[in-house]
Amino acid sequence: MVHLLLRRNWIGRIRLALTLAGLPFTVCSSGVGPAISCTPSYPFRATKTITSTSTSCCKLYTTSVRTMPSSATLHVKSRCPQYPGSKIKRLPVPDDKVDWSQKWPQYNPVNHTDPAVLKKPVWADAEIGVFSPKFNTVDAGVDRTGFEGTYKVENGKPLNPHGRTGVTGRGLLGRWGPNHAADPIVTRWKVDAKGAKILHSVSKRPILQFVAIKRKDCGEWAIPGGMVDPGEQVSLTLQREFSEEALNSLSVVPAERAKIHERINKLFKSPGFQVYKGYVDDPRNTDNAWMETVAVNFHDESGNSVSELPLQAGDDAGQVKWVDVDSSFALYASHSHFLELVAKERKAHW
Ligand SMILES: *[C@@H]1O[C@H](CO)[C@@H](O)[C@H](O)[C@H]1NC(C)=O
Repeated sequence: MVHLLLRRNWIGRIRLALTLAGLPFTVCSSGVGPAISCTPSYPFRATKTITSTSTSCCKLYTTSVRTMPSSATLHVKSRCPQYPGSKIKRLPVPDDKVDWSQKWPQYNPVNHTDPAVLKKPVWADAEIGVFSPKFNTVDAGVDRTGFEGTYKVENGKPLNPHGRTGVTGRGLLGRWGPNHAADPIVTRWKVDAKGAKILHSVSKRPILQFVAIKRKDCGEWAIPGGMVDPGEQVSLTLQREFSEEALNSLSVVPAERAKIHERINKLFKSPGFQVYKGYVDDPRNTDNAWMETVAVNFHDESGNSVSELPLQAGDDAGQVKWVDVDSSFALYASHSHFLELVAKERKAHW
């Protein structure tokens, strides 16, 4: 079930106006070495123009399991030497000093909050001091609870639950503490002309297909995820992101929209399979602000629900299509991990 549903405190959906003007999308253009994967997993919600300035951020998706958003692994991207979208160099944090419990009295991280965040756009908090939110709760419509339990707050500032990053402040992230995203994984079975499931020639298992978007910012295929708006239930974010990015529901004619809406509603009301819920090792993370996500699989078993809707790319997506779920498909590392779990759960080919 998708009962991650935070307390309802509906203050209306606040659109994240993109004062950032593509800022999160340029993150790897500033001299980050190719070996370091410094691309954000989730672009902030953009109302329109996404200026695609760099493609160098796309090296990332092939890296090892170390980039998986697992609570068991040390965060790596969160320590990438060059902070994205800036000239800031993180203080290097060795593996054995990541955990806060390891004493490090000389630890003196760089303080960095991006100027675009300091301007206080609608998606960003104010500086601590003038502002003191209630952490670990839903406060004024903003969900400040962490998916992995209570996080520590020190001197009024939340501490990254996965440890040191070499940067304090919020960097490019709007919220102190957790910044929530959601990843809808919509699947169907691959069938032949007669509607029979196609089995993979090697594994002999049926093949799943999922809806993938090709991101405009870096040209990589990804799950159509996005940021959770303040006051928005995660289940709604999942549905909204999918509708906007994969069906371009914002631009279709009203009659068509009703039909799309009905099918989408039905699918997203079905009990989804929660694939992941927790911390994301994201290059924008700091000691005081970090990404978290919920990935949920919604499966069209009979193939007559969303499977029949024409896919159409929305604002953040260049293309959208059904892609075979297969371990060889190059995808953002954590997304690939999510799909593997989906394939296992559905006893499908991987
Ligand atoms: C960190 O930077 C922010 C803004 O860039 C500033 O308001 C704050 O006082 C700084 N904090 C410290 C501890 O230097």
